[in-house]
Amino acid sequence: MMKVVKTIQELRQLLTEEKSQGKTVGFVPTMGALHRGHLSLVQRCKKECGVAVVSIFVNPTQFNDRGDLERYPRTLAADVQLLQAASCDVAFAPSEKEIYPEPDTRIFDFGLLDKVMEGERRPGHFNGVAQVVSRLFDAVKPDCAYFGEKDFQQLAVVSEMVRQLGLPVEIVRCPIVREADGLALSSRNALLTPEQRAAAPIIAKTLFAAVDRVCDVDLAALKKFVEDSINADERLKVEYFEVVCARTLQPVASLDDDCAKQACIAVHAGKIRLIDNVRLT
Ligand code: PAJ
Repeated sequence: MMKVVKTIQELRQLLTEEKSQGKTVGFVPTMGALHRGHLSLVQRCKKECGVAVVSIFVNPTQFNDRGDLERYPRTLAADVQLLQAASCDVAFAPSEKEIYPEPDTRIFDFGLLDKVMEGERRPGHFNGVAQVVSRLFDAVKPDCAYFGEKDFQQLAVVSEMVRQLGLPVEIVRCPIVREADGLALSSRNALLTPEQRAAAPIIAKTLFAAVDRVCDVDLAALKKFVEDSINADERLKVEYFEVVCARTLQPVASLDDDCAKQACIAVHAGKIRLIDNVRLT
């Protein structure tokens, strides 16, 4: 039977018992409104660890846009049911006061990692992610923590934070889970109107078409192809499309650069902002 805990104290008590039985602790941090993407992380965690802990906390410090924070879907009762069905052991659903008894004033320095893409367009976002993930890691003290490649830059930032703080946690990267039509699963998909939802698969389809073209065109032509294909639909507007080195996240100068390349995109569908990415080479 899954346990639902609200305080760090209860969580620590529970996990101390489990650890004393020699179990490893796996952790999946989330903001709830759970879908199959989240659940794929939970399944992997459950397979690889003795105890699977999932947190549900909509972290205010990572929202640079108030409207986005207010609109963010909150579905705790349904989330708890889904986690129970996924054989999660512990659901941790703290209040804001529990995580931030006082405001967190820490400023992280991720060098160039958060100066591009999401970090450039969402000031303070990754600092807020680092604040909450470090606090959650401190509460759970996991052996392994599972993150989705859907948020490709978040994975890089969290890995760098773990390195900088010297935390004894292994960060496990998990592939993007998609709808049958290609759309990457996201809690924000629930906010799309039926018309926007019908247009949204164009994003992934265009990224896959870009993968097919990568050997035949140069970077400028690839960018133009992606931006034009998506903007051709009046319901969608590309915010950025970048081809970056998968390790440093810095934009590549040419498609001939011999680093592993990731194509990353953010698109507006009305007020809703969708992100996606794909490995290019
Ligand atoms: P959230 O958006 O709820 O995502 C929680 C985890 O699920 C992240 O690691 C994310 O990359 C992963 N995920 C979301 N959609 C996915 C998909 N379609 N396929 C695979 N994985 C997917 O990311 C956050 O929350 C927050 O920033 C958090 C790390 C919890 C800190 O507040």
